[in-house]
Parts: sequence; C-alpha cells; structure tokens
Amino acid sequence: MQQIESSKEIQAFALESRRAGKSIALVPTMGFLHDGHLELMHKARAQADLVIVSIFINPIQFGPNEDLDRYPQDLEGDLNKCRAVGVDIVFTPTRQALYPESFQTSVEVTKITKCLCGAGRPTHFQGVTTVVSKLFNLTLPDTAFFGEKDFQQLAVIRRMVTDLSFPIKIIGVPIVRESDGLAMSSRNAYLPTKERKEASGIFAALSHAQNLYKQGHKESEELGQAVLKQLGEKIESPFQVEYIKIYDAWNLTEISGLITTPAVLLIAVHLAGTRLIDNLLLEN
Ligand code: PAF
Repeated sequence: MQQIESSKEIQAFALESRRAGKSIALVPTMGFLHDGHLELMHKARAQADLVIVSIFINPIQFGPNEDLDRYPQDLEGDLNKCRAVGVDIVFTPTRQALYPESFQTSVEVTKITKCLCGAGRPTHFQGVTTVVSKLFNLTLPDTAFFGEKDFQQLAVIRRMVTDLSFPIKIIGVPIVRESDGLAMSSRNAYLPTKERKEASGIFAALSHAQNLYKQGHKESEELGQAVLKQLGEKIESPFQVEYIKIYDAWNLTEISGLITTPAVLLIAVHLAGTRLIDNLLLEN
C-alpha cells in the first residue's frame, strides 16, 4: 500500500493506471475509520483493480460553529485498517494541496441541498460537492462508494454526477450499525458513556415507526409523531430533535399525508452537543 499526499502525483498515478486499462474505485472519507468505512472499502476491493481511499477533513463543508477543529483523527490507525483491507493507495492531501490561496471555484447542487441537513447547514453540501468533484478529477475513478447513512449526501452526489456528466458509477452501501443499533459514525466518539447508551434510542424510535408502517400505518405525520413520542418518552429527553421527516427515497421530496412511493424516514438529533443522523427505508 502506498500513501500519496500530492495532488499531481495521485492524478498522474490515476491517469497512468487508466491508460493501462486498470479500473479504479474511490472511497472518499474524512478518516477516523470505522466498520462502516471498512464496508465501503471491502465493496470497492471486490469491484476494482485499484482501490484508492482518500482521507481529508474537508474544511469547507463545516459551518462556522461546527466541529472542524475537534474532528477526530487517527492516521496511523486508519492506514493500518486500509492495509488490512488491501487498499492500494491512501490519498492524504494537505489543506493547502486541495485549496491553495488562489482557490475560488465551487460546485453546487441547488435544490435538494436546501432541505433536511442543508436547512441547518446551509454551506455544507456545497463543500461536499466541491471536494468530491476535486477528488473525482484527481483519482479518475470508475466507481465511487458512499454510505447510505448520509442519505441526502448520497442523493446530492448522484445528482451532481448526473448533471455534470461525470463518467463515474456511484454505489451506495447500506448503513453499518453498532450491536445496539446506533449507526456507525466517526462522531459517535464524541459521546460520553451515558449519552452513548441513550443514542441507541434513535434506531429504536426509527424501527418502531418502520414496524408501524409495516402494520399498515401509512400517514407520514403519524409516523413522524411516533418517532418523536418514542424519543421524548423519558421525562427529560436527552435528544434535541433537528428534524424527523419522511421523503420520497428516489427524488428526495417531502411526503406529507399518505405514503404511496418508496420512502425513507430521516432524522437528525443533537445529543450532548453531538449531531447524529440516521435513516430507515419504509418498505413492506
Ligand atoms: O461523508 C464524508 O465523510 C464526507 O462528506 C466526504 C464524502 C468524504 C467529503 O468530504
């Protein structure tokens, strides 16, 4: 396994590999890798001749009062994990390498970025699509792998790839969960022990609504209320809810009233100052 820091070097490597007829899979990450990331890497490994994992804490996708300065890092641990999966290249650019002084371009998906996470994080998705475009141009992948935990991010990237005609297949990989159901996330490391236990309540509440849906409760408001009630059941609920929404799983538009299309129940909560997101598909 090789670690590359330079943009020029990774692009030259990617160009040469593509010319030699090798297929490339990219797994973009911000590091502090967990089993969810490893699942993306395993899927990538099974598909392509070369697997590139990028590790870059992208400053432009964080808002002014977010956790950029304390985002967890463990490069040595990450490199070991990548090695164990059989990754070929780990791309670890510096901020300066991706955003030199003169940098002034951005990529924006204009509509589906305004709702859900985008409502509370207005510059977030523009930061994501800008860095992902750069990573695509630097690593020239045939396929790129993203987790379904960031359901909206996946939809935004698919939109961008279609709209800008990137010749890249985007592959969404199902959420990997801890044994108590909490969706794996690098940010789970922020949770103190008590809140970490309480965090399993998010999946429990989503599962409760999913069960109701399977039993024939198909009104989106009723299901949203059921999640809220379940989360707030304790006298002092630890959760501050940012949103609980049901969206059409294909075009990412909100469903109010009767659910008649494949749908996804999405949630964002704050728990002890940590923002957590999760989602479950509503299907029979
Ligand atoms: O999902 C993430 O970890 C990040 O948003 C991504 C896609 C690596 C872009 O920085």
